[in-house]
Amino acid sequence: MKQHTLLMPLDMHLHLRDGVMLENVAPLSSYSFSGAVVMPNLVPPVTTKIALLDYKHRILNATGQNRYDDDFDDLLEEEGFGGDFEPFMTLFYNNYSKEFLEEVADEIIGIKLYPAGITTNSESGVASFDLNEMRPTLEAMSDLEIPLLVHGETDGFVMDREAEFMSIYEMLATAFPKLKIIMEHITTKAAVDMLSLHDNLYATITIHHLLINLDDVVGGMMKPHLFCKPIAKRPEDQAALLSVALEGHPKVMFGSDSAPHPQHAKEACGCAAGVFTAPIALQLLAELFDENDALDNLQAFVSDNAQVIYSICPEFKEVTLVQEEFKVPENYSGVVPMFAGETIKWSIENVD
Ligand code: NCD
Ligand code: ZN
Ligand code: ZN
Repeated sequence: MKQHTLLMPLDMHLHLRDGVMLENVAPLSSYSFSGAVVMPNLVPPVTTKIALLDYKHRILNATGQNRYDDDFDDLLEEEGFGGDFEPFMTLFYNNYSKEFLEEVADEIIGIKLYPAGITTNSESGVASFDLNEMRPTLEAMSDLEIPLLVHGETDGFVMDREAEFMSIYEMLATAFPKLKIIMEHITTKAAVDMLSLHDNLYATITIHHLLINLDDVVGGMMKPHLFCKPIAKRPEDQAALLSVALEGHPKVMFGSDSAPHPQHAKEACGCAAGVFTAPIALQLLAELFDENDALDNLQAFVSDNAQVIYSICPEFKEVTLVQEEFKVPENYSGVVPMFAGETIKWSIENVD
């Protein structure tokens, strides 16, 4: 049976939420990933050092890594939820002072910028991209080598939002050439093309945007569990994403954007945006890369590129995947995953 081993898989864009949801979803990521870049769009968003450190503490608790309770640790390990997992923390972008950024730099992997109101819990994001207002913060981030992570969508027509944002990436990348800018969860050929135009632009890509286009979301019966921001685009956009992911393009990293919402918030007349993929992401990646004869490039996409781009050294983890069918559960503690109830072709055999 075909097998494939991955070392230190990383999820460079993950929503872990808080409270009971955090406790339910965090072990699903910490089981198979060495670390993840944790998004700050809580309610309220993570904007202070104390909130950041408290949140990190809650994540470590939820993944059984605060060693106060040995019995709990043993239980997690017995259930296969042990193992080390590093939450790489982010702050929600505000116009912060340099003093504050110096104080917090060692605790974060980057700062996440949301245009105001454009996605889940982004109401207090950036209302207008006024370089004069943003310059002191972005210059300080550049000096301190703090990457800027961006949800790149305007408030234009839904299919054009990401492409329209390219001029803002252009402006930021040109004005701050030493600032590393990560275009998060890209969905368009326009964004793929940007990678070769600016040395300081990088991107994350989700598994769902590699597997689906808009037809899968609304072309037949409407699929709320495939609805997310940015929405999946045209087949040619999907093809452009696939080509850079499958080649292991050095500026491209895997970021699941796994975004859990309770079932009632997805299966509602106003459907929350977000696709939940954390527990099946590596299996789906193995299946996709295998079917495209690109398994040899998966290690770069799912870990090595991110280690170079972010200069990080993740916790050791070896994940063995095997080409054996896996029936995706209908839900994980009330959160419906992508492909719920369907059979996928690869499984996780072992995690060391
Ligand atoms: C994310 C969420 O639910 O927090 N939703 C989504 O559709 N991707 C927010 C985000 O990443 O934009
Ligand atoms: Zn986003
Ligand atoms: Zn996200």
